Amino acid sequence: TTVEVIDEDYQLGGFDSYLLKEINEQPDAVRRALLGRLDERFATAHLGGLDLDPTELRSFRRVKFLGCGSAYYAAQVGANLVEEFARIPADAEAASEFRYRNPVIETDTLYVAVSQSGETSDTLSAIRELKRKGGRVIGIVNVTGSAIARECGRGMLLHAGPEVSVASTKAVTNMGVSFAMLALALGRVRDLSVANGKRIVDALAKLPSLLMEILKLDAEIAEIAGRYADAEHMFYIGRVRAWPVAREGAQKLKEISYIHAEAYQAAELKHGPLALIDATMPSVVIVPGDDLVTKNIGTVEQIKARGGPVIVVTNTDLPENLADAVIRVPACEPELDPILLGVPLQMFAYHVARKLGRDLDKPRNLAKSVTVE
Ligand code: AGP
Repeated sequence: TTVEVIDEDYQLGGFDSYLLKEINEQPDAVRRALLGRLDERFATAHLGGLDLDPTELRSFRRVKFLGCGSAYYAAQVGANLVEEFARIPADAEAASEFRYRNPVIETDTLYVAVSQSGETSDTLSAIRELKRKGGRVIGIVNVTGSAIARECGRGMLLHAGPEVSVASTKAVTNMGVSFAMLALALGRVRDLSVANGKRIVDALAKLPSLLMEILKLDAEIAEIAGRYADAEHMFYIGRVRAWPVAREGAQKLKEISYIHAEAYQAAELKHGPLALIDATMPSVVIVPGDDLVTKNIGTVEQIKARGGPVIVVTNTDLPENLADAVIRVPACEPELDPILLGVPLQMFAYHVARKLGRDLDKPRNLAKSVTVE
């Protein structure tokens, strides 16, 4: 697909970068992804492009997501959602590793290739390898007619609209939304109840308006970003549902601000990285309001006790003065937390990069789609 650039100023629509424009397009992008796919009556999602009837949908005993970079981190959100909704084992792997390691291909596994551009060479090679060995694969891609869309032949379109900025934002958010619908469809032909399905359908429908609320936090996030833009290193901490959110948050900061950021699973901190905590090492801790909230509060306290500054990103009430800064977004159903909690991290990375005068759309050394090995 060719995206015609008619007039750059018009395309930017008054934003300073495609990055900021695309962050702000997310409510519309998600609305498009949901359009015509949610089924209130049967509490499921209609995903015609999958080309899988209910019997075939039920036949999978495992789901494996493959992607590179942010698509890979997003894929971990997908794997978690499939396990939560469909209760079948699911995992995510970097397609760039999968293709080189002579993977065991199972014919009762649903392979899901994830890519914004649909042109990523490593992902394409992984698909070809698993198809050669009899694997069944669907593609979740943003670009119609792209190499990955064609190679998979079936799947879901992200409907995020053209993404120009090298740092992926709206496509990543739409990946989360698409995975939720896929997991819902897989769950509803298994044990996911009507009531639970309905709860998820309703929650998905609310995402666009909640995203609009999050975008209103821009000035607040800019102020916090300004306080930490001179950091040399940062930690991003999350556990379980929030772990892929932390990885993607760190990725966004690295990519566009060039600040070294590392993501860690909260409970892994004490197995080594806590040694790095001091006043010069800020940590962004993602604290969803789920059943692990007390554990995550404990993580924040451990970091604070060692003199580390903490920025908490949450969607729930937390004890006063827990952290040095708190970014609070609206709550949704807990399974969908990773979708919403990722957005303030994009905004944070944008503001840090802007403060540092970086090239927001074309970070050094990177290309929008990696079509070489
Ligand atoms: C995202 O911000 C990055 N630019 C990069 O990691 C990207 O997600 C990766 O290269 C995969 O691209 P794709 O989704 O087009 O396959």
